[in-house]
Amino acid sequence: MNKIVIAIDGYSGCGKSSTAKEVARQLGYIYIDSGAMYRAAALHFLNEGLSLSSTKDVVKGLSTLQITFQTNPSTLRQETYLNGINVEEEIRTMRVSERVSEVASIKEIRQAMVAQQQELGKNKGVVMDGRDIASVVFPDAALKIFMTADVDIRAKRRQVELQQKGQEVDLQEIKENLIARDRKDSSRVESPLLKVTDAIEIDTTSLSFEQQVGKIIAHAQKVIFN
Ligand code: DC
Repeated sequence: MNKIVIAIDGYSGCGKSSTAKEVARQLGYIYIDSGAMYRAAALHFLNEGLSLSSTKDVVKGLSTLQITFQTNPSTLRQETYLNGINVEEEIRTMRVSERVSEVASIKEIRQAMVAQQQELGKNKGVVMDGRDIASVVFPDAALKIFMTADVDIRAKRRQVELQQKGQEVDLQEIKENLIARDRKDSSRVESPLLKVTDAIEIDTTSLSFEQQVGKIIAHAQKVIFN
């Protein structure tokens, strides 16, 4: 069967990752969480105490940065590893969320992440979510989705997600972080978040998880069987 690349971009907290993961599962495709890569990079720079304003530090940080994904055999969930250490939980903490947009705005860091993402998706049969997937990583993707949702709904969903992981975070703090990241991600010079002209927009504000997955699967089937 004709395998395609599905690029899913959109604002923070729209449910891109969970949706992309389920779309990949239903199609038997590989799922790649590009945001997890920027988060792991942010954690690395934080842990190493490296400055983002020093090119020397950025080069040093990149030379000691290795990001890999492994499937957890008991949960079958894909988890992120930083230099061989499982950081799946740590990269979702507010400490990392507060720094990640800054890290993702650095040209050299983006170049390294994009090269790895293109390599991971070169055989197609891949669903990748992020901010620049349709615009930079896979401009030839056969299906491009742009997800949006009301910011209050996004903050509430993110709070529930964090609560399920045992993290109690104030709703207003989450909302402010989402707004700040959207602003930084959309206004940065390097590969800003944007909706490409051939992307299909899906507003998930009043959609259930099953409905948003179903919409993307329907679009994918149209492209695959065309
Ligand atoms: O999808 P996420 O919220 O886990 O992404 C974390 C941050 O990484 C987000 O604030 C923007 C950045 N990012 C990016 O710049 N480009 C991508 N392809 C994916 C994420």
